[in-house]
Amino acid sequence: MLSYRHAFHAGNFADVLKHSVLSLVLDYMTRKEKGFCYIDSHSGAGMYQLADEYAQKTGEYKDGIAKIINDDEAPESLEPYLSLIKSLNLTSGISNDLDVYPGSPGIAKAFVRRQDSSHLFELHPTDIQHLEDFCQRWRKVFVKQSDGYKGVLGLIPPPSRRGVVLIDPPYELKEDYQKAVKTIIKAYEKFSTGTYILWYPVVKRELVEQMSHTFSKSSVKNVLQVEFCLENDTDEYGMTGTGLFIVNPPWQLATQLEEILPYMKAKLGSNDTSYTLKQLVAE
Ligand SMILES: C[S@@+](CC[C@H](N)C(=O)[O-])C[C@H]1O[C@@H](n2cnc3c(N)ncnc32)[C@H](O)[C@@H]1O
Repeated sequence: MLSYRHAFHAGNFADVLKHSVLSLVLDYMTRKEKGFCYIDSHSGAGMYQLADEYAQKTGEYKDGIAKIINDDEAPESLEPYLSLIKSLNLTSGISNDLDVYPGSPGIAKAFVRRQDSSHLFELHPTDIQHLEDFCQRWRKVFVKQSDGYKGVLGLIPPPSRRGVVLIDPPYELKEDYQKAVKTIIKAYEKFSTGTYILWYPVVKRELVEQMSHTFSKSSVKNVLQVEFCLENDTDEYGMTGTGLFIVNPPWQLATQLEEILPYMKAKLGSNDTSYTLKQLVAE
């Protein structure tokens, strides 16, 4: 089943949280000279045009990135993310403030250096084409149209012993919730010092609780969980919130999120909006 297209959702509130965290993690990784390996299990297209029919059909970016891109009050912790979006739009050659929005490979491309390598997995026949086009002038990137869960396990541990793994499935299949966590648990057994970022939607609360439970009873240590819910949980269908599990986060990430979350609530949320940040598993 491959009906999910991220082009409908690019730049929405969930992307703001996921990509601001990814930017902070990658920014941190580049503070050491030694190279690192970036692995993206579910990459999507790489870059999105917000004027296209997909983004315009849902307009989700209008309630996400569009609300903060030009805001002078944005906290310093959002700077790596927002300055990247601004610079991509300045160089897009199109006329508006917000014409393009990067997917996770677009974010990574902006941070990685000559000494870093990137491995991108994507299954969708159209998005893999877009992704390959996007990566054409990118050195040390390896793009594969194959299963990202297996891809992660095949690359771990990276030779540099420094790595960031993003796992961002579409959750079209209910099994993705557990498969994603179990992939990180297996990867951690081989590479316990890597940083792993797992994105999830809040659609059914019990599925998120099961993910937390699986992490808590595993051997994985140092798991930070952040969640931003636009609305209260509901039994009806639809994503009301979003979250991330971050294994081995950079040491300042929790403090940076304490700045980002209230700002996101003020700019993107309503009275029903809530957020949580907790150390799910101790170091
Ligand atoms: C949520 S989107 C990824 C968004 C992207 N990470 C970003 O932040 O911009 C999920 C993507 O995973 C792809 N996909 C689904 N199952 C996959 C699998 N087993 N391995 C690799 N890619 C997969 C889908 O085609 C879709 O493009």
